[in-house]
This record gives sequence, structure tokens and C-alpha cells, in this order.
Amino acid sequence: MHDFLYRDGKLFCEEIPVDRILDAVGTPAYVYSARTIVEHCRKIREAYAGIEHLVCYSVKANSSRAILRMLRDEGAGFDVVSGGELYRVLQAGGDPRKTIYAGVGKTAEEIRYALDQNILMFNLENPGELEVIDRIARDADKVADLAIRVNPDVDPKTHRYITTGKRETKFGIDLDQAEAVARRLSGYPGVRLIGVHMHIGSQITTVEPYVRAAEKVTAFIGLCRGLGHPVTQLNIGGGFGIFYKDKSARTMQDFSQALLPVVRPTGCRLLMEPGRFIVGNAGVLLTQVLFLKESGDRAFVICDAGMNDLIRPALYEAYHKIWPIQMPLKVQGEPPDEESWTGPSLLADVVGPICESGDFFARDRRIPPVQRGDRLAVFSAGAYGYAMSSNYNSHPRPAEVLVRGDQFALITARESYADLVRNER
Ligand SMILES: Cc1ncc(COP(=O)(O)O)c(C=O)c1O
Repeated sequence: MHDFLYRDGKLFCEEIPVDRILDAVGTPAYVYSARTIVEHCRKIREAYAGIEHLVCYSVKANSSRAILRMLRDEGAGFDVVSGGELYRVLQAGGDPRKTIYAGVGKTAEEIRYALDQNILMFNLENPGELEVIDRIARDADKVADLAIRVNPDVDPKTHRYITTGKRETKFGIDLDQAEAVARRLSGYPGVRLIGVHMHIGSQITTVEPYVRAAEKVTAFIGLCRGLGHPVTQLNIGGGFGIFYKDKSARTMQDFSQALLPVVRPTGCRLLMEPGRFIVGNAGVLLTQVLFLKESGDRAFVICDAGMNDLIRPALYEAYHKIWPIQMPLKVQGEPPDEESWTGPSLLADVVGPICESGDFFARDRRIPPVQRGDRLAVFSAGAYGYAMSSNYNSHPRPAEVLVRGDQFALITARESYADLVRNER
């Protein structure tokens, strides 16, 4: 979070005080640091410099075209899960030959669109997809390249809603079925198996589940090759955890040091699909206090942003640091930990304006006393923030701003009331 630092109690993004941005665009607004995004992408590339690799940024984390364009300029490819995400990548000038199409439920139209664009490959998420992709490819006189998404049945020790690599989840194909698919594949001339994929979950902070999953997946590659499939791509997915509160997540170097000895012997090109690691700590959601309210022994700080803007606390019980952009003390550096805050404080639920009890950013949170009109920063909101936002309660979606050094640009305008009804007939 070192591009969101306090200087004498005032929050800056890179070289700009964020209140200056808010004076121009209002609240709520997402603000992103270009420097953090580029740096995080480079950190991954450095950690895997010793092996041929391709970072395929996971578009679902933050699909703003300005961000996709920056990552394209860094040489990144993309992981998409819908025709709409592929459209965004192409609009941002992304290379379809560096684009992977994952996604549990691809429609025939989406498969056709991706084939027409000559993407790198499809991740096969269930055995039934084989017939569909094969038929569509043959109709188009093409051969579709595939990776089988293996469900390695490994517990990534993360929130149950972002666990994907256990057998009981809807993701991927368990190893027994995956073997059966690999054996059947020669009967489908419209497809070719060139890769194996795994993605065991998100916000994973330890290396062991990756290593255990990678061991199963590399053994599966051997099996596929034994059946004559030209497997050259090993995709270890995304899910690398970041710091929201504590600093327990392993570094990218820790992940690569543990994983490289397992994956290198395959001789495959290593693909990765990080989303959160690149953008999570590159963004904040800025909001304004509308009201303070007391009810029984509880205090509420009611903000103009809500679960419609950032749903992670409601959906995943996610923790986000929240601090005023102007602190009462001359705080320097990173936003403090709640536990280490020794200044004046208030214990409150920080909530939004939405008519849902689940509309909160924090419960029983110690923050400095705030007043109507004060502005707050919800930190680590760059991933799964704007991308999961909605118009619930007919709130227009917020603005998005990208900061580079001492410059900032509006990359997504705040929606208007007219936008809310634009598509209604
Ligand atoms: C298949 C796949 N790849 C990559 C990702 C990105 O995960 P993260 O943002 O945790 O890196 C996801 C997230 O859900 C995913 O489902």
C-alpha cells in the first residue's frame, strides 16, 4: 500500500493529496495508483524470471479498460470468463493470442466469438463442454486449443465463498473424470489438448495448497502426454493473497520458490491468472460521511458509498482498513492498524445508505471521531470493488480515477440518473 501514504495526517495517492481528486470528481470514487499496478505485475514477472511464463491478468478483478491497457503495455495477457470480458480486452488493445477463456458456463455465442478472435485457449471446465466446443470449432473449420481445468481436491484455507479447488465446488473436473476426458479427446477432431489448468481459490496466503495441487496437476500432465496430447502450457491460476489487515500473506518470491521445483520438470510454459495481487492494494474507495447515529449502545457512521459500490464485506466478510483521509494526528506513512491506533477514537459500525442490514463496510471498528462531511478511505479496494458494483437501490455507480505521479485522470465517469434507465423500453 506504499502508494497510499499519509503525509502529516493527509492521505496521498502517489504524489497527489486525495482530497484534491475528490474536489474534482466528488464521492463515492475509486482511486487507483498506476505505479502500484505496474510494480505488482513486475513483481510476479521477477519471481518467475527463471522460467518461460505468461502473466494473464484476471480481468474479473478490475476490468477498467485503462487498467487493461496499462497491463497490456507491461506485456501481460488476460484471463477472461465471459464474452464481455473478452470484448473489453480487445477494446483495450489486448492480444487475443495471450488471452485464455475460463468460465464455468460459456454460451455457444461466447465460444464462437472467442474462436473468431483466435484466443490462445479455452479452459475446459466440465466434460460436457467438449462436445460443444468441438462442434462449434468444426463448423468454423477450426481446431480449438484447450486446457483441462483440473479440480485437484485441495483445501486452500480461504473463505468458503472463494474456495474453488475442492471437489464439492462447481469448478473444474476431478482427476478421475479429467483422465476419462483425456482418453476420449482423440475422438474430437475440433479440439486439441495443449494445457492443464488449476485455480484452487482466491486470497490464499500459504504456499502448501499450491504445491500439493501442482504436484497432482503435473502428474496429470505426464498422463496426458502418455496419451499423445501435446501439452506445453501449465496454468497455475491466480489466487495469490494480499495484505488486507495483517501481513501474513506469503510474498510472490515465497510462492515461486516453492512452486518452481514442482512445475519446472514439466518443461511447460507457466501461465498464471493473478487478479487481486495486481490490483487489490492499488485502489481505495473514497466516501463521505453523511450522518452519525446512535442506537442503543451502537454507533453508526453512515456513508454515501455502500454495498452496491463495494460488496466484499457483505459477501465475503472481508476486512478493509478504513481511515479518514484527513487524520486528527500527523500520521506518517502507511494507514495504521486498528489495534495500534492511540489517537482519539470512536467505536462504530461503518455503513452505507442501502436498505439492507448487510450493508456495512466494518462492524465495531475503532476509527477517529468523524463528522458529517468528513471523507473516509476504504483501503485495499482495487480488486472486486468496482467490478462487482451494482445499481441496487438505483444508486449510480461511482467514478474511477487513475493516478500517475502528480497527475490524475477520470477513467470512468460517475453514472447519472439517465444512465439508470437508459436500457429500459
Ligand atoms: C479461474 C480463475 N482464475 C483467476 C482468478 C483470479 O483470482 P485472484 O484475483 O484471487 O488472483 C479467479 C478468481 O475468481 C478465477 O476464478
